[in-house]
Amino acid sequence: MSFKVALLPGDGIGPEVTTAAVDVLKSAGEKFNVEFVLKEFAVGGTSYDKFGTPLTDEVLQACYDSDAVLLGAVGGYKWDLLPQDLKPEAALLKLRKSLGLYINIRPAKVYNALINSSSLKPEVLKGTDLLILRELTGDVYFGEPRGIDNEKGFNTMIYTKKEVERIARYAFEVSLKRKKRLHSVDKANVLETSQFWRKIVNEIGKDYPAVSVEHMYVDNAAMQLVRDPRQFDVVLTQNMFGDILSDIAAMITGSLGMLPSASLGNNYALYEPVHGSAPDIAGQNKANPLATISSVGLMFTHSFQMNKAAELIEEAISRTLNSGYRTPDIYQPGNTKVSTTKMRDLIIENFNIIYDEQALGVFTL
Ligand code: NAD
Ligand code: IPM
Ligand code: MN
Repeated sequence: MSFKVALLPGDGIGPEVTTAAVDVLKSAGEKFNVEFVLKEFAVGGTSYDKFGTPLTDEVLQACYDSDAVLLGAVGGYKWDLLPQDLKPEAALLKLRKSLGLYINIRPAKVYNALINSSSLKPEVLKGTDLLILRELTGDVYFGEPRGIDNEKGFNTMIYTKKEVERIARYAFEVSLKRKKRLHSVDKANVLETSQFWRKIVNEIGKDYPAVSVEHMYVDNAAMQLVRDPRQFDVVLTQNMFGDILSDIAAMITGSLGMLPSASLGNNYALYEPVHGSAPDIAGQNKANPLATISSVGLMFTHSFQMNKAAELIEEAISRTLNSGYRTPDIYQPGNTKVSTTKMRDLIIENFNIIYDEQALGVFTL
């Protein structure tokens, strides 16, 4: 078995965290006898500096030609003043739109070992396991017209029926496989876009009587996420609100460096950590690679049907954290502080140990 993966490390800590994740991917491939053929390309600011554009046609084509895309992060101060379409972030938006990646899965669950790493109280967090489903190719991110001149800046918030229907249907399907509880988050008290969103979610919901739906305004949802995160199972929301709520949800895990994501469409898939290029810590070998390594876990599940390998990644992460190893962002007194590369080594080591234990029947998940 062989899969093609386009590797887009990007800017800032992107190359550090993707290098770590790729090493885990390759090592898992060896154990499971699967070959991953990786091709690396510049994207974001790194591409702008080389080619004058954040995303070349060659890279986009390479993504179309791959079984999956792994992306680090894009952006940085250096490129902040460029016009919108030349900014590193524009590369990511174009990739999402061109590949039709309208489903963005952002799971946030508590690792018991990290319960004291969060700014939230352990008794509030304990047992939290939720999934943010963010619509990814519509909303104010892509609406036209948009622009900026000396007198104004403007964007258009818009959702079409087809766009809401397909993500809503996906959310109901996922809810059916989980706790059959869906929160749809919007701003229907103020925005027509959200009123439309709510109407369509209710219509699709008629096909899923087993799933209970609760609508929540986004301002309240932001508060509820930190007040009592366990009340949520699947949270479906618009592109912009999902961006913000998922960073809030990162604190459930203890750090933005823990949160993975999968961006899926009907034909393509891209995997990336939820965090950005973290210019404040770039190049110091101290970024947390676990969000990107977990994203490889999502790749195993959603692109390669390698559920066992995905489970082993999760188990390797738990075991490594249980042994007290931490990158600085999740470090607590008494832990062993490790670098990005050391964390990678530990994950690979534990992955192999757990694999061998299971092969010998010592330990079953
Ligand atoms: P950020 O996510 O890069 O960083 C926010 C904070 O979290 C920083 O203090 C950073 O050090 C910390 N952090 C993030 N990831 C970490 C990790 N893996 N390990 C340890 N600490 C980590 O957000 P920002 O500072 O607002 O944005 C920086 C740049 O990244 C901007 O140019 C932004 O547009 C871009 N960005 C890109 C993506 C993406 O490529 N998907 C996502 C978000 C932001
Ligand atoms: C994210 C990021 C991106 C977004 C930016 C970099 C375009 O913040 O993936 O969460 O806003 O979607
Ligand atoms: Mn974001």
